[in-house]
Amino acid sequence: YERPTARHPVLAVDQGTSGTKALVVCPERGVIGSGAAAVRPRYLPGGLVEADPAELLSSVLDAGRQALADAGEPVAAVGLANQGETVLAWDPHSGEPLTRALVWQDRRAATICNELAPHAQELKKLTGLPLDPYFAAPKMAWIRRHLTRQGVVTTSDAWLIHHLTGAFVTDAATAGRTQLLDLDDVTWSPRALDLYGLAEERLPAVVDAAGPVGTTTAFGPEIPLTGLLVDQQAALLAQDVTEPGSAKCTYGTGAFLLAQTGARPRRGDSGLVSCVAWRLDGKSSYCLDGQVYTVASAVRWLTDLGVIGGAEDIDPVGSAVPDAGGVTFVPALAGLAAPWWRGDLRGSLTGLGLDTTAGHLVRALCEGIAAQVTSLADAVAADLGEPLRSLRVDGGLTRSALLMQTQADLLQLPVEVSALPDATALGAEAVARVGLDPGLALTDAIPAWRPAAVYEPRIGADEAAERLAGFRSAVTALLERTPS
Ligand code: G3P
Repeated sequence: YERPTARHPVLAVDQGTSGTKALVVCPERGVIGSGAAAVRPRYLPGGLVEADPAELLSSVLDAGRQALADAGEPVAAVGLANQGETVLAWDPHSGEPLTRALVWQDRRAATICNELAPHAQELKKLTGLPLDPYFAAPKMAWIRRHLTRQGVVTTSDAWLIHHLTGAFVTDAATAGRTQLLDLDDVTWSPRALDLYGLAEERLPAVVDAAGPVGTTTAFGPEIPLTGLLVDQQAALLAQDVTEPGSAKCTYGTGAFLLAQTGARPRRGDSGLVSCVAWRLDGKSSYCLDGQVYTVASAVRWLTDLGVIGGAEDIDPVGSAVPDAGGVTFVPALAGLAAPWWRGDLRGSLTGLGLDTTAGHLVRALCEGIAAQVTSLADAVAADLGEPLRSLRVDGGLTRSALLMQTQADLLQLPVEVSALPDATALGAEAVARVGLDPGLALTDAIPAWRPAAVYEPRIGADEAAERLAGFRSAVTALLERTPS
């Protein structure tokens, strides 16, 4: 019998908004097995976005079992990445859900945020997060007020981990997405809990990203769970954004630009989130985080309208025209996050004419996404006090050359596309591996950084500035039309 070590294959599970991916990864041979299962959130009137908890769990089990069967080899450990700010109430004895899962994009807890507005500055200072229903705590408070006072109310990771192992834990980076975690101490903040009316709650223990959590037989054989990390931070790690000042953007359901800030939180005033990147051995590293709430979600919306057949149409349809034909699209379909924090806004589409084609709409969407990411990069540069030199990118929509070229053009920086299509899962793998072998350095647990493609800007700074100004005036018009 050979004791499992960090050199053995690991099962890495990425539980995301629109699906779960699982990989079996071996340090020498790379990915040796994979599985995937879709999750279908429900988009309801009034900005409600819900997921069926049973579907979240079954997607994890299905994808994990598929990956193990595909690899046909035993694994030494499991690592789990999770979607972050999605919340549900559940019975800690039976594990049964008591509510549906309120997905991070859900806006219903805006009422709770409005009530807490007088404490916004205090909460920001304490937790690094602005007041917005995106985060977990407003949704937890909303569930307590409107749905049930029974059981526990947690982020979806704690529920999944309970089902897998029986443990009641959350990793420090996921806890940092609630607005209940003290950013400096990385412990639950009594003051924030009190402000949210959650002081009496039984909360999961906050644990490191790497270390033994328990064992699971949910995928078949008994396997230790040794790695936990919220998904954006997992991608940050796998993209080797481990040095202060470097940054990545993941283009998934939403887009998330994160910059590493090292051992101390940076509390800038550009409107970004300051949060835990990961905690290892009790030591936290921190990052700045900016969000575009609807990216693949906006592509799905265009698809549902019949404008395109799916994400694979972005390039052929968009490339049929030379530009957006005067159309400006602010794809704020679930509101605007950093640096504006106006979750109540709706999107806008302006400059339409009888000559507007599907290609113009697709180009305007790419431009709208890329312009928002550019605003986030500018905010990061302002908070760090130095410009970014390049941006590492990953996620499904990096397959669109049109979107990536538009991004490089508007950013006026090289955009380096990860050769790792599943960076998030590989971040979960890395922490699981360190959890198996605490002597392993985090940077030795991730693959060497290697871009599959680099997009260089093809337009000059003046044209980029002009196009960005067009997008920003469309945002200003939205802000003026809908006073907060
Ligand atoms: O904050 C939510 C985000 O982390 C979800 O990621 O991959 O499901 O878009 P994804």
